[in-house]
Amino acid sequence: MKVAHTLAELQAALAGASLRAFVPTMGNLHQGHLDLMQIARKQVDARVASGGRTVASIFVNRLQFAPHEDFDSYPRTLANDCALLEANGCDVVFAPAEKDLYPEPQGFKVLPPPELADILEGAFRPGFFVGVSTVVHKLFNIVQPNLAVFGKKDYQQLMVIRRMVKQMGLPIEIIGGETRRADDGLALSSRNGYLSDAERAEAVQLSMALKFLAVAAREGSAKGQLDVPALEEIGRQSLRKRGWLPDYLTLRLQHDLSPVTGPCQQAMVVLGAAKLGNTRLIDNLEV
Ligand code: PAF
Repeated sequence: MKVAHTLAELQAALAGASLRAFVPTMGNLHQGHLDLMQIARKQVDARVASGGRTVASIFVNRLQFAPHEDFDSYPRTLANDCALLEANGCDVVFAPAEKDLYPEPQGFKVLPPPELADILEGAFRPGFFVGVSTVVHKLFNIVQPNLAVFGKKDYQQLMVIRRMVKQMGLPIEIIGGETRRADDGLALSSRNGYLSDAERAEAVQLSMALKFLAVAAREGSAKGQLDVPALEEIGRQSLRKRGWLPDYLTLRLQHDLSPVTGPCQQAMVVLGAAKLGNTRLIDNLEV
């Protein structure tokens, strides 16, 4: 496995590649990321007999953090990340310094549509999806992948990237990887590392609240009786009673994340974000 820090090193490492499969990350990797890496590896091996390369990027992207968020304290664990990537089928790691990816202030930005980017995560983290779209677009330009793999754990992010690729005419196939969960059901996340032991034991309650809403949505839709706002409020209250501060816990349509208002026969998804102590967790479940 090669580790490239500059654009020139990356271009040298990828020269002559017949297919490029890309997994963008911010590092501090866990099994969820490694699952995405394995998907990329399998795709390359299934599609080309030789010359295909898997690429992972590790870059903590300042543009997607608000000033009060955890950019400075976000764990940087490059050596460990590289060892994990190598053991999971990665050919090339791109780990640029900030001055290489942003040699001057990034004045040009990718502006995602507000109906997708200003709701849910975007409502609570203004500018987040501008930062994500801008860096992902830039990384796509640099890596020139044929396909890229993103986790469904960041459901709205995956949707924003899919829409960006479609509207900007980028010739990149986007693959969504399933969320990896701990044995108790907690979705793996780099930010789980911020939780105390007591918070870690409590953290599963977010996925349980999502499950409650998903089951109620399925059963209520089958019966033709579904009071979505009441159910969402029960879910949020159950978290508040346990000391959480929910930002949202909501039932949406999978295809555009618009609200579900009553019994529904279309594919739905429950999304939630809530703070437990100082840690903000997000999760979702497809219905
Ligand atoms: O999901 C992440 O880790 C980041 O948002 C991404 C896609 C690597 C962009 O910085």
